Amino acid sequence: MKKILVTGGTGYIGSHTVVEAQQAGYEVVIVDNLCNSQVGVIERIQQITGIRPAFEQVDCTDMAAMEEVFKKHPQIGAVIHFAAFKAVGESVQKPLQYYHNNLRSLWVLLTLLPKYEVGNLVFSSSCTVYGQPDHLPVTEQTPRKPAESPYGNTKQICEDIITDAVRAGIPVQGILLRYFNPIGSHPSAKIGELPIGTPQNLVPFVTQTAAGIRPQLRIFGNDYNTPDGSCIRDYINVVDLAKAHIVAVDRMLKKQCKKPVEVFNLGTGKGVSVLEIVRTFERATGVKLPYEIVERRAGDIEQIWADTTFANTELGWQAHETLEDTLSSAWKWQQTLQ
Ligand SMILES: NC(=O)c1ccc[n+]([C@@H]2O[C@H](COP(=O)([O-])OP(=O)(O)OC[C@H]3O[C@@H](n4cnc5c(N)ncnc54)[C@H](O)[C@@H]3O)[C@@H](O)[C@H]2O)c1
Repeated sequence: MKKILVTGGTGYIGSHTVVEAQQAGYEVVIVDNLCNSQVGVIERIQQITGIRPAFEQVDCTDMAAMEEVFKKHPQIGAVIHFAAFKAVGESVQKPLQYYHNNLRSLWVLLTLLPKYEVGNLVFSSSCTVYGQPDHLPVTEQTPRKPAESPYGNTKQICEDIITDAVRAGIPVQGILLRYFNPIGSHPSAKIGELPIGTPQNLVPFVTQTAAGIRPQLRIFGNDYNTPDGSCIRDYINVVDLAKAHIVAVDRMLKKQCKKPVEVFNLGTGKGVSVLEIVRTFERATGVKLPYEIVERRAGDIEQIWADTTFANTELGWQAHETLEDTLSSAWKWQQTLQ
């Protein structure tokens, strides 16, 4: 059963995970409707690993089409479910699209998994489920706060749907991975983050500014209650993050899970401020970053970083890449886009 299905596998985190899965000996079937990625990613993955993953251009919310995927690709051991809409701001403008896409795609999977005897599901969750926590760092036991956006709400609801369905007895093992802030690119610079329009995340904004595509970086607020006044996040290298998915799938296939639904924080355990990112990027790449401080952005929390003890001890996984190397990889990727 070393075959896995990866929804959203041509996207940013999905493509890096497909590479790691293939390199770990898994046969991969990608399902993606290309609403936020490009088909050329398949070719790039093949260039890195020497193996072309199977690809089905299918919308995960389409039950009939997904059923055909499971019929065509029998003997799938696990599904990693990345496919979702992910822009926080856009979710406020288009809540119904977000609820439909993110909830229905999970619902379709949970309906089909038992029918096609697929017993394992890894779900992409997010540190957004914690909101602004009362205590830092956050552990998996830190209470979730009411979601601040429809996007965040979809992650909370999806976590609950999986937990409720498993509790009700569907024969599926679940692992919920709460990502902190994934950044960087594969060291080959063949795959990376491809934001459409103005980037919502800091690092693509940084690299586009460094490349001269944007005149200057906007830093949203320098009056937060943090050492330098800018927001603090836990930035996790995307390849480190991808590797955690392979550990999670291995754990499920070896039946090592201790609970029907397990939850892990995936971060570095270190909080880094926006201004530290700017300085580290400049040091790592030698490129000067023009920036301006602007008003705080609505919906941004002040600071969050992960307690990763549980992932370190229980999964035996930890982040290895330095922030310097990770920012350099993002810059190398940006330079291939010009
Ligand atoms: N990037 C982050 O900062 C971050 C942080 C926490 C959690 N996540 C979650 O991780 C997952 C992957 O994020 P990403 O950054 O790689 O996003 P991405 O947009 O790069 O990748 C998502 C992929 O899913 C596809 N997709 C979306 N809806 C689909 C559907 N209905 N059917 C088929 N394909 C569909 C898109 O085309 C895209 O290729 C998402 O669930 C996201 O919410 C991301």
